[in-house]
Amino acid sequence: MNLFISASLFGICILFQLLVVNGAPTSSSASKLILSTPKTSTTTSKISSTSAKSSSITSKSSIVTLKSSSTVALSTTQLSSTLSSYPTPTVPIGAEGGPFATVEGRMFQIQSKTQYFAGTNAWWLGQLQNDTDVFNVFADLALSQLKVARVWGFSETNNAATASGVYYQVLNSSGQYFNFDSNTGIPRLDYVVSTAEAKGVKLVLPLANHWGDLGGIPAYTTAFGGNSTSWYTDAQSQTAYKKYINLIVNRYKNSAAIFAWELCNEPRCTGCSTSVITNWASSTSAYIKSLDPSHMVALGDEGWLTPPAGDGSYAYSGAEGVDFAVNLAIPTLDYGTFHLYPESWGYNDSWGSEWIAQHDAAGAAAGKPVVFEEYGSTAAVDKAAVCGPWQQTTLGNTSVAYDSFWQFATALSIDPFDDYAIYYNNTAGSDYEVLAFQHAAAMLAKNPTATQ
Ligand SMILES: *[C@@H]1O[C@H](CO)[C@@H](O)[C@H](O)[C@H]1NC(C)=O
Ligand SMILES: *[C@@H]1O[C@H](CO)[C@@H](O)[C@H](O)[C@H]1NC(C)=O
Ligand SMILES: *[C@@H]1O[C@H](CO)[C@@H](O)[C@H](O)[C@H]1NC(C)=O
Ligand SMILES: *[C@@H]1O[C@H](CO)[C@@H](O)[C@H](O)[C@H]1NC(C)=O
Ligand SMILES: *[C@@H]1O[C@H](CO)[C@@H](O)[C@H](O)[C@H]1NC(C)=O
Ligand SMILES: *[C@@H]1O[C@H](CO)[C@@H](O)[C@H](O)[C@H]1NC(C)=O
Repeated sequence: MNLFISASLFGICILFQLLVVNGAPTSSSASKLILSTPKTSTTTSKISSTSAKSSSITSKSSIVTLKSSSTVALSTTQLSSTLSSYPTPTVPIGAEGGPFATVEGRMFQIQSKTQYFAGTNAWWLGQLQNDTDVFNVFADLALSQLKVARVWGFSETNNAATASGVYYQVLNSSGQYFNFDSNTGIPRLDYVVSTAEAKGVKLVLPLANHWGDLGGIPAYTTAFGGNSTSWYTDAQSQTAYKKYINLIVNRYKNSAAIFAWELCNEPRCTGCSTSVITNWASSTSAYIKSLDPSHMVALGDEGWLTPPAGDGSYAYSGAEGVDFAVNLAIPTLDYGTFHLYPESWGYNDSWGSEWIAQHDAAGAAAGKPVVFEEYGSTAAVDKAAVCGPWQQTTLGNTSVAYDSFWQFATALSIDPFDDYAIYYNNTAGSDYEVLAFQHAAAMLAKNPTATQ
């Protein structure tokens, strides 16, 4: 899903502490704030276009230059050696060590048990600047028996001066800078990981975004040139992306809260040969496995199918440059992901059950788990009428290992929610009670051997 960010998410940035990762002596376009640029018509979420431009940045005192001159590809060894100079998390992470989530046939083992389960999307968790909010969300997730939350593990801006709220890195024509400020930077994600551990909820962390929300690929191309299709092969962008991966994966690789790393949210290479994303997914997933062989890695794609699957219409055309079945065979990808937005893609709601069954069949053919990772409805009332049948198909007619609705919502001191939000509610018959409480319980109750 892509989304518009409500302006209420943007606080005022007062201090920042950045590490210069590398300087890029290239020509590039001027910095611009891209967070509010809608990329597609996929959502109809509320938007407020105010960009909170802060005039109160008072300190640049913590900028540390690690490497100042070039963006030539760094070797893995060089990356590791620079990592030792990064500030370490100040909250407990990884003390327990394990057990880590693993693949078990077409299912997953979590907490030492092979089981079906449900999860959710809460992309904004690492953007929250209020610890109580974060803690309350994890408490709600745990109470709902939602086992995994998918949270954006990226957040980049082109301009620290106009950025507001939380960003993990700055990308601009002079280079790549990691933000370790405790209120606005990577420590906000540290707190999410630490709290997830404490509450026994796991995390899927995508490490980039196709869309411009929280920066994404557009933030790379604004800084380093190229465009949304050349990004996958652009040396400068890929070097910066790998350095970001290196930082995050090394930071959390001891944490049992990590369910999986994801290469990107909804990667697309529109109009490209599907080999572009397949090659990029192969090499990037192998790179992540080289840093962290213990956690799972997934692509994070929408699951586009190609002929002869389906009827040749949009979702089966390969038009977005993704071939789900081919990518599922990549040895360093542990499972497949697919999303479902019939409203945005020009299909009717009942087609959704076909889409689910088709991905289950592809998973069976590959012998790998598939995850129904995003689905939702903008229906103002009764989202359960739209999403309930998809959950019933998943539960009763497939071996889909886990599914994850878009998106979890609850009362917070900010409002990052879109029209797909399903608000925490334990009243019998409410959308949340049906789609979260009831469904999570039903997935957990499903016999692990029934549909293997
Ligand atoms: C790039 O961002 C860094 C960190 O905010 C800043 O120090 C530097 O001046 C910026 N470079 C340009 C060209 O804006
Ligand atoms: C991206 O740039 C390449 C050339 O580098 C060009 O062939 C392609 O059409 C561009 N794609 C888009 C979406 O602009
Ligand atoms: C929904 O779409 C599918 C194919 O996309 C079609 O076969 C089916 O008849 C449609 N159902 C309704 C109720 O329109
Ligand atoms: C799911 O399975 C049930 C029982 O086997 C069957 O009646 C139903 O038509 C199936 N639904 C779909 C969407 O395949
Ligand atoms: C932090 O969140 C809690 C719970 O939503 C709220 O009660 C509190 O007022 C918030 N604190 C700030 C400083 O916004
Ligand atoms: C919970 O759901 C019920 C039934 O749909 C609704 O009447 C109530 O307003 C909801 N409560 C909250 C806090 O959203």
